[in-house]
Amino acid sequence: MCGIVGYIGDTQAADLLMEGLSRLEYRGYDSAGIAVLNGNGLDIRREVGKLRNLAKEVAVNAPKGLIGIGHTRWATHGRPTTTNAHPHTDTLGQLVVVHNGIFENYLEIKHELIKDGVIFLSDTDSEVLAHLVARSYTGDLRLAVQVALSRMHGSYAIAVLHQDHPDLLVAARNGCPLILGIGAEENFIASDIPAILNHTRQIIYLEDGDIAEVRQRSWSVFNLQGERQHRDQTTIEWSLVAAEKGGYDHFMLKEINEQPTTLAQTLGGRMGEEEGRVYVDEFGITDEQLRRIRQIVIVACGTSHYAGLVGEYYFEQLARIPTTVEYASEFRYRKPVVDGDTLIIGLSQSGETADTLAAIREANNLGGLTASILNVQGSAMSRETQGTLYMRVGPEIGVASTKAYTGTVASLLLVALHTAQVRGHVTADFVRETLGSLRQVPSWIEETLAEVGAIQDLAAMLHTFRNCLYLGRGVNYPTALEGALKLKELSYIHAEALPAGEMKHGPIALLDADFPVIAVATKSAVYDKTLSNLKEVAARDAVTIALGTRGDERLAEVVDRVIYVPETPEIISPLVNVVPLQLLAYYVATKKGCDVDQPRNLAKSVTVE
Ligand code: AGP
Repeated sequence: MCGIVGYIGDTQAADLLMEGLSRLEYRGYDSAGIAVLNGNGLDIRREVGKLRNLAKEVAVNAPKGLIGIGHTRWATHGRPTTTNAHPHTDTLGQLVVVHNGIFENYLEIKHELIKDGVIFLSDTDSEVLAHLVARSYTGDLRLAVQVALSRMHGSYAIAVLHQDHPDLLVAARNGCPLILGIGAEENFIASDIPAILNHTRQIIYLEDGDIAEVRQRSWSVFNLQGERQHRDQTTIEWSLVAAEKGGYDHFMLKEINEQPTTLAQTLGGRMGEEEGRVYVDEFGITDEQLRRIRQIVIVACGTSHYAGLVGEYYFEQLARIPTTVEYASEFRYRKPVVDGDTLIIGLSQSGETADTLAAIREANNLGGLTASILNVQGSAMSRETQGTLYMRVGPEIGVASTKAYTGTVASLLLVALHTAQVRGHVTADFVRETLGSLRQVPSWIEETLAEVGAIQDLAAMLHTFRNCLYLGRGVNYPTALEGALKLKELSYIHAEALPAGEMKHGPIALLDADFPVIAVATKSAVYDKTLSNLKEVAARDAVTIALGTRGDERLAEVVDRVIYVPETPEIISPLVNVVPLQLLAYYVATKKGCDVDQPRNLAKSVTVE
């Protein structure tokens, strides 16, 4: 989604704005702009396309000034053009606004303003706010923003500058992330931490409904009624390196290879082998509530949804609780059956996904118990649920989610183990044994990563195909779904996944020499059935590839290519089996010259419907 940066201090703002925007590129965008107050008024630069286009323009003739705001836009209303790029000004060009989110009622207000003689230059909803603030402005900028925002419905993170106030940035959020960075003699505003981590580790997370006044040496937060709010300062431990590529060609490859480390972080401090139990108190649902619940609904989007499907197996097989996994965008409109004995779990790497946030809010309104498994500290969803189990995989910059997937699956297993234990369905010995297997997952993943050569060879063969079918069964059907999503979102090859047993009911008609099949066929209770499915596939001349358990020679006799992974208990296998599929998608995409970290049309966090 869009990225916002703001600065006020004693350094040229343009340099810091451009640096901050470059660290937000991963969020996906199609135009960019900055505005600086230069003593005579506002100096605004905007360009479509990649940030380097704006950087070229700024380098030639940099705006001068010690206060400014910047924006990378991911088009929602109006095509990616310079006119639609942010910042947007009022008619007199005395103030500028940058905005992330969607104002649902902008057209109604736009028509009202046009009737009052306002001339709009862009097709955006954001420009409406600039004119509305100008119309409400009588000298107090924060009050004008407050009045304007009280008219707007929808999600926003905004920053505003006015030429009458060269010492003041105003920022506000509702539904989209926005933080303050507190420096020595300088302060920042940003959509996300990497944008300002080079300059400060002291962060203030704004909350929905907050309006902040930010000056060089002070800051204050108010609500929409103008009442001052207290906000804690958080010290961020992330090193900037953690948000950099760390020597890999792409963030995504770094994040795939980080998984042994990040999974150890997810599990760290939560596995009590001695006592035969897990520690997930921060999940926030009491043991008494866990004993009482009669159904679990998992709500999520995309990769998080597929991790949820693994969680469904865990909760049903271990805790014997009826569990469903809903697309968040469907759940919120479906009039779901939810009551006080329903546990709704929101899964989200960003914690800002609009559809999942809305689903959680709907669940709260219906009186359900809500909890979340998230990655980004302090994100909106963490404030909408009873508790949050953080997966602790560090910043995930690549738009295609990888370490957050395994982090979510591991977190779900911990919660399911604890739930099963408090409900008396598993013993301390079973928990101890499962934790012992989880302890080995980082090294099993390391072994899988070592198969990179075979995976690169496979990618070289696969990258010319235009379609691909993934197959899986049982707890590895979600693995196939996730593998297919990775391939399609990174290489733009059409890929879909099916339960292996479903293929005969129609889709097998698709198969021929131009339609390769990739099956997750590691040792499991359903291995033999998967093997016979693969024989059916091979008989249709389709190139057949399988993930197999190391040492499985039978498989190699049936399929064309095997990528081997270490033998793992079935319940653990989704954590390991997904890794070769992540690597495969990555290498097919790089072979095709695709933009791996910022695939076309995608955004890292979908904070609009
Ligand atoms: C996955 O690779 C995609 N980037 C996308 O499907 C993503 O998983 C989805 O938008 C959910 O994001 P979240 O986990 O931040 O809520």
